[in-house]
Parts: sequence; structure tokens; C-alpha cells
Amino acid sequence: MRFTLLENCKEDMVVAENIYCESGNIFIKKSEKLTKNHLDFLNENLYSGLYIEDNFSNNVKINYPISPSLRNKLTISIKKIFEAVHQKKVLNYVEAANFIFKLSKNLINEIPKNKILDFLYIRNLTNYTFEHSVDTAIISVVIGKNLNFEKEKLLELCVAALFHNIGNMYISKKLLDLDHKFSQSELEEIQKHTKLGYDLLKNTFKTPKNIYEVALTHHERYDGTGYPLGLSSEEIPIFSRIISLSDWYNAITTKRSYRNAFISIEAFEYISSNAGLHFDPNIVKIFVSKISPYPAGTTIILSDGRKGVVIENNESILTRPYVKTYGVDKTPTIIDLLEETTLTIKSII
Ligand SMILES: [Fe+2]
Repeated sequence: MRFTLLENCKEDMVVAENIYCESGNIFIKKSEKLTKNHLDFLNENLYSGLYIEDNFSNNVKINYPISPSLRNKLTISIKKIFEAVHQKKVLNYVEAANFIFKLSKNLINEIPKNKILDFLYIRNLTNYTFEHSVDTAIISVVIGKNLNFEKEKLLELCVAALFHNIGNMYISKKLLDLDHKFSQSELEEIQKHTKLGYDLLKNTFKTPKNIYEVALTHHERYDGTGYPLGLSSEEIPIFSRIISLSDWYNAITTKRSYRNAFISIEAFEYISSNAGLHFDPNIVKIFVSKISPYPAGTTIILSDGRKGVVIENNESILTRPYVKTYGVDKTPTIIDLLEETTLTIKSII
């Protein structure tokens, strides 16, 4: 299977992964053919792209950090809790936090250690806020596992990531979705989500300190230029140093109604160049060595104009994966970009 941007999807293409809708139900089943109705729905709801199955990409296996079905289950659970907060519903919030702890165990168990992972999921923008929490948790746990955190610490890291932006439920959605540069007063309003989330997790959800302090400090920067406290380097809790990177990476690689997504490799370059400034350099090192900048299944154009699909990562240099393409006589060719030094990946389609 391969991932194809929605603008390149056409009727009759075969869907290779279940596609979930806003409610968490399956909207298009694996192996179904795309229809015009499907494409209209996917466009209206700003899906980023789909996994499709074709001769070009059969046998390409994606090393997901966690299965898409568990990711969907977590998204829907987080959505229920966040919406309850937003609507000021009466709910046993301590119990809700315990439920998220339980689900987080599944997430931690599924993520493999010491493996290069393909972080490329089908995204449904109508659920952006909730999927973003789950994706931030996935990346954070990948980093935590590779920092050799023990189980209890991983569990708290995961829950902290899932809840880090819960304070946004008190900020108007209109303000969060604004498509222009924020004015000073708008910025001050948005920044309040840190303290609001901290108070909520501490007093209502009654989570451990490691979790509620992340809500307060996940916008701090390693060089001290973040907010709200202006903490720097080791003064920033380790969970927040991890989650600020995961949060930033996932947000910038997601297409929003007002801007296109950065492709992974662009985000990797930004993160690497901000090691020691925006981000903790040790955490950057782990991130860029465990998450692939060209996940398996990515459809690409090579610098000689040939279309290809990434079939496997090259563990020694992640920016030079194995690519399958077609020669002039239409026979499939596997290219090792580590060997083919004159070829580069020109674009992702
Ligand atoms: Fe935030």
C-alpha cells in the first residue's frame, strides 16, 4: 500500500486502510473502491490523504507506531472528555482520567522500541484537536521508550501528552482557528490555555504533578524564550521538553483550513536547526533517529522525473530510503538511494 495525497486520489482506486469518520465509525472499509461520494466527503472534511492499494505498491509494509484502530479508539475517548470539559458537563473527571490511564497502557504496549517508525496516519481534520492529542502522545512515548523510561514514567508521559492542551477547551474555537497573525491581545488570550489546563488537571482531574505541570509548561523553550514562565533547559520538566517537540512536529505537519502542511523532511530540518534553541538537543537526536522523515508508503517523484514509492527505511541514513520505481520498459526497479548518489527525492505527491 502507499499513501496518496487526497488531491491525487481518483474514483475506483482501492482503499488499503479503513477510513474513520468524525464519530469514530468506519466510513470506507479496507478493500473498497473509491466513489465520487467518498471523494466529495473526504474533500469536504479536509482529509490529508489515503492509503491505497495498487500493483505499484503491493508488499509495502508500514511500521506504524500503533495500529490505526487503537489510534481511532483513543481519539474518540479523548474527544468525549474534552467535549465534556468544553460543555461544562457533570462528569466524574477522576474516573475519566483513570480510564485514559488504562487506554494509555495499550498505546505503550504497542509501540516498539529500537525500531524506525513510519508516522504517517490518515488524518481527519474535523477531529484535529483530539487526533493531535493522540499523535502527540504517540511521538512522546516513542521518545520516552528510547530514553529508557520505565513503565510508570511512560504511562504518566502518555497521559500528560494526551491532556497537554485540554485548556484549549476554554478558548474560543474561532480564535484558535484564526488564519492571520495574532494580535497581542489574541495571543494573550490563547496563551491562557496553559494555566487553565494546569488548574483543571490539578483540581478537577486530580492527576499527578508530572501530568498537570505539562499543561502549564509545554510552550516553554529550551533557550528560555517560551511562555508562560520563561523557564530554560533543565528547569523545564523533562515531559514538557519531550511533549513540546512532539506537539510542534505534529501540528506543523498537519494541513489546516488556513495553511498547507509542512512535509516531514521540512519539519525535520526545522527541528534539527532548532536543537538547543527551541528544543532540547538530546530529545531532537532521539526523535530524528527513530521517526522516519520519509515513511514507507510515501509516494514520491525522483530528481530524474520518475515516480516512486518508499518501500523501506535505510537505517544508517534515514533521508536515503529504498524506493521502488518503474524503468522505461515498465519493469519494477528497487533503488537504494544510499548507492544512487546522483538521485534525490524531489517531491512528495
Ligand atoms: Fe498548547
